[in-house]
Amino acid sequence: MSRDIDALTSYTLKHLRDRWWTARWTHWVGSHLRCDPGERLVHVGCGNGEIDVALALATPGLSVVSLDVQRHRARHTRELAGEVNVSLHAVAGDLCALPLAPGTADAVLCVGVLQHLADPLAATHALADLVRPGGRILVVEPDHEARYWFSGADAGERAFAAARDTLGGWQRESAPDAPARLGVHVVSWLRDAGLEPLSVEAVPVSESRLGAPPPGVWEARERLLIAAADAPGRAAAGAALLEAVAAYRDEADLQGPAFVEVQHALLIATLAQRPQ
Ligand SMILES: C[S@@+](CC[C@H](N)C(=O)[O-])C[C@H]1O[C@@H](n2cnc3c(N)ncnc32)[C@H](O)[C@@H]1O
Repeated sequence: MSRDIDALTSYTLKHLRDRWWTARWTHWVGSHLRCDPGERLVHVGCGNGEIDVALALATPGLSVVSLDVQRHRARHTRELAGEVNVSLHAVAGDLCALPLAPGTADAVLCVGVLQHLADPLAATHALADLVRPGGRILVVEPDHEARYWFSGADAGERAFAAARDTLGGWQRESAPDAPARLGVHVVSWLRDAGLEPLSVEAVPVSESRLGAPPPGVWEARERLLIAAADAPGRAAAGAALLEAVAAYRDEADLQGPAFVEVQHALLIATLAQRPQ
């Protein structure tokens, strides 16, 4: 099962990447950042580094700096680049205390990172500081209020509502100041940081199921919810959510081939430039 846009198991889109980041999107990112050979692209929150390698391969001579707060992700990016003989510089570092000098990036890329931070506004300003005059930045973040779901099963509607309340509550505990509509705020934050917005685009991601999901889908959902509830103070709400999802599974199985579930999520891609 793709755990990407499943609102039953994740309030954020943090597992979304594999669902929507296609080769076409890599091309879109590259064409918007417009990096030339010899320029320096900084990817903040690089994850496993796949995009870094793809962008480096697409523009030979581009100097790619990949940074992630998790050391193993920076290491993985380095190893991945080594496997295909691509030269890039992957470092462990925190966006909130960047180990890079201001104005040293020709282009900055940041995707799905601000949603995890307690102060996304300050983090956006830190990203903007990296951009040299004439340089560009592309920030992609979700709008959690643009989540949509439909289930042909009544128990499904109840399970989605319970997930929104429970998982949304846990998300607000971990990032209390992050607005739910985060993605759409980035453009004004970048403008406040002295950058000139160039475009704002909505990137829709959809998933639908026709026919009752196979057992593996439910097992994965259960596993993810158990993991999400594994924190102090979450046991009771986690158990109630699991129960709601179990009831949904029973009704879906009864519906069989008539079962329908539709989910939709929205990312907002903001491109800006520092004036010369
Ligand atoms: C959803 S993943 C996105 C990865 C990558 N940008 C992509 O789209 O494939 C978010 C990444 O941001 C990293 N991250 C989270 N907080 C960070 C911080 N304060 N500084 C740097 N990286 C951070 C996480 O470790 C994770 O690898």
